[in-house]
Amino acid sequence: MLDRRSLIAGGAVLAAGAAITGCATAQTPGAAPATWTPRPLPFDPKSIPGLSEKLLVSHHDNNYAGAVKRLGDIESQLRQTDFSTAPGFLINGLKREELMALNSMILHEVYFSCLGKGGSKPGADLARQIETDFGSHDRWRSEFIGMGKALGGGSGWVLLAWSARMGRLINQWASDHTLTAADGGVLVALDMYEHAYHIDYGAKAADYVNAYMGALDWTVADKSFAARQKS
Ligand SMILES: [Fe+2]
Repeated sequence: MLDRRSLIAGGAVLAAGAAITGCATAQTPGAAPATWTPRPLPFDPKSIPGLSEKLLVSHHDNNYAGAVKRLGDIESQLRQTDFSTAPGFLINGLKREELMALNSMILHEVYFSCLGKGGSKPGADLARQIETDFGSHDRWRSEFIGMGKALGGGSGWVLLAWSARMGRLINQWASDHTLTAADGGVLVALDMYEHAYHIDYGAKAADYVNAYMGALDWTVADKSFAARQKS
């Protein structure tokens, strides 16, 4: 996620900026921040059944890329903040917004990684774990869909996550980007913010949930699950 060359370059740019403006702080600024660069969509946006190119590109370019940019801006602010003198409300606000932007970036990357041409099934290991933890794939699917439709009147995320603490998969509810299980390794993410569907479905959130499930691709979830079993 972090490109070392970008990171070094970002630090150099900031250092140069500080020198030009003569910016002085009471405390030495923190380590050089990362330069956050949005990842491109991992698929052809014309190829996802049930979700239009216009919707997917808008979601990526405005909401996801916006979160990545916001994260970079917040981290630049934090780097220049003197934590020994800054008021608590300023520190709290910046750190809260940092977490919001960070998790928005991560969850959107998982979301986009889950979209494909449809007809996909989880691999043998993940399928076995889903059966163990939910009773059957159909039961998992029913829970996941029901949670998505229940969030249709509001916003948030539905997440299939691996809990290392419990040693099992969970379907996790989140009403905003920050509400993820503390040990949750997110495998599948359903975005229930209006921006994820309004262009195509208006207020018909349930139809969007059905379209998402039809396009769900398990390839990346399988790899993520396997990696978490080894760690
Ligand atoms: Fe989103």
